[in-house]
Amino acid sequence: MRIYSAIQPTGCITIGNYIGAIKNWLALQDDNECIFSIANQHALTVRQDPQEFRARTLSFFAQFLACGLDPEKSVLYVQSHVHQHSELQWILSCMTYIGELDRMTQFKDKSRKNEDNINAGLFTYPVLMAADILLYKADMVPVGKDQKQHLELARDIAVRFNNRYGETFVVPEPYIAKQGAKITSLQNPLEKMSKSDKDQNATVSIIDPPDVIMRKFKRAVTDSDNRIVFSEDKPGISNLLSIYSAFTGETIEEAEKTFEGKGYGDFKLAVGSAVADALLPVQKKYEEYLSDKAELERIMKAGAEKASYLAERTLQKVKKKVGFIVS
Ligand code: TRP
Repeated sequence: MRIYSAIQPTGCITIGNYIGAIKNWLALQDDNECIFSIANQHALTVRQDPQEFRARTLSFFAQFLACGLDPEKSVLYVQSHVHQHSELQWILSCMTYIGELDRMTQFKDKSRKNEDNINAGLFTYPVLMAADILLYKADMVPVGKDQKQHLELARDIAVRFNNRYGETFVVPEPYIAKQGAKITSLQNPLEKMSKSDKDQNATVSIIDPPDVIMRKFKRAVTDSDNRIVFSEDKPGISNLLSIYSAFTGETIEEAEKTFEGKGYGDFKLAVGSAVADALLPVQKKYEEYLSDKAELERIMKAGAEKASYLAERTLQKVKKKVGFIVS
């Protein structure tokens, strides 16, 4: 199976991304042909400070490696290093209707949130995402709920192209992870933990130092009674139980037993240290990768070359099909 997914270098990689996405990717990379990218062209739809943007892209790449994504097993690269993405995007944008893009709920959301920067890139963003996926003939795309509509559009574009020009693209399926808890904000447990949340206390980054992790869990919102049980009317406690379970391997039921009769204060400290401990090896590797920029850039470049090779094969085919003169 060919698998493709990507993450934007904005905000930080949270424990929610780690549990919900990266851990699944790790499980997939042994038995599949996986391609994972840092979607920095997508991130440019929001204003970025160039220096910070560059540093964050590098940092995200190092975090991929530190988590265990393996450049020997998977293709790991940065989107802007592979020029074929924008080239295919142009061709695909000529077969995508304004009406389709106008229906994208994320575009509507983001427009509302960035009223002073509703740029054309924000509007055509799903076409770039379709190009990402279709270039590599991905069979499966692991995505969160918020990206389902974009994946649907990628499928529609693939089918449309194939009908018009003959079989070219693989029509990708969404990949739904068998398990994987949804991690919500520590400050508003009814909302997904968002990597770009402005409230620092709402999210935990996988590279937050242990004392910061402890502080954030200490401040986590809980609820009024004092029972540590997983239930719909206790979103804060349930979220902490999910996090604890994901980082220790204990089931939710086992975790409930572990904390029976304990107070919220002790519970929050225990969750914090479970997370901090589990992340320590990742953080150590992260520091190692970051301390050798030349090696990091070498790995990045090698990944881009592999990706480019695959992407170019598809792009050549597409150019021929649409009637561009190719040598
Ligand atoms: N848009 C995705 C997000 O914000 C990131 C992304 C870019 C992506 N290209 C992709 C995800 C291709 C899956 C496949 O989460």
